[in-house]
Amino acid sequence: MNKLKVGVLASGRGSNFKAIVQKVDSAEVKVLIVDNPGAKAIEIAKEFNIPYEVVDRKKFSNKLNFEKEITNILDSYKVELIALAGFMRILSPGFVEHFKWKIMNIHPSLLPSFPGLNAQKQALDYGVRVSGCTVHFVDAGTDTGPIILQAVVPVLDDDSPETLASRILKEEHKIYPFAISLFAQNRLVIDGRKVKIKDI
Ligand code: GAR
Repeated sequence: MNKLKVGVLASGRGSNFKAIVQKVDSAEVKVLIVDNPGAKAIEIAKEFNIPYEVVDRKKFSNKLNFEKEITNILDSYKVELIALAGFMRILSPGFVEHFKWKIMNIHPSLLPSFPGLNAQKQALDYGVRVSGCTVHFVDAGTDTGPIILQAVVPVLDDDSPETLASRILKEEHKIYPFAISLFAQNRLVIDGRKVKIKDI
């Protein structure tokens, strides 16, 4: 069986990137793209012999040219799915349209609650009793696209943003690879805002 060609975009540590590389049999990560040369995800790419490219946002005068470079790299690897894995930039509507319903993101809250930055702190500050993570397709909004999978964790009275984040991260490493496997098996059907999961 031909494996799904995946491109991963990351900005930092890359633990979700690593989980995808290790856990998804039906897909192959063809390239990692990072937006800054300090991203630790680069070390993971080296460890697993995955090609990586640094597209340093600082070196581009505008977002359009920055995204054009990313598009060229993804196209050159014939990528069929883009997985945002801690990629801390908002992609422009033009980029999202170019790769329509071929971009996934993982977010550390139960969307639509707490989109955007510092989701775990937002959840703690609000006082919710459960939080979690969401894998969704990316649309033109911020963390607003159709939801594929979610996982729930408890919020404890003595949680800090860090303890909650690490409890959520364990679930991220399960549901993100699973969502990509489902996509690779053509089992995700988008119906308006809803994503239906087909049986095999
Ligand atoms: C993860 O918790 C991910 O959900 C979050 O950044 C972290 C990246 O960790 N993403 C966002 O907040 C996007 N809005 P990682 O680099 O170890 O995968």
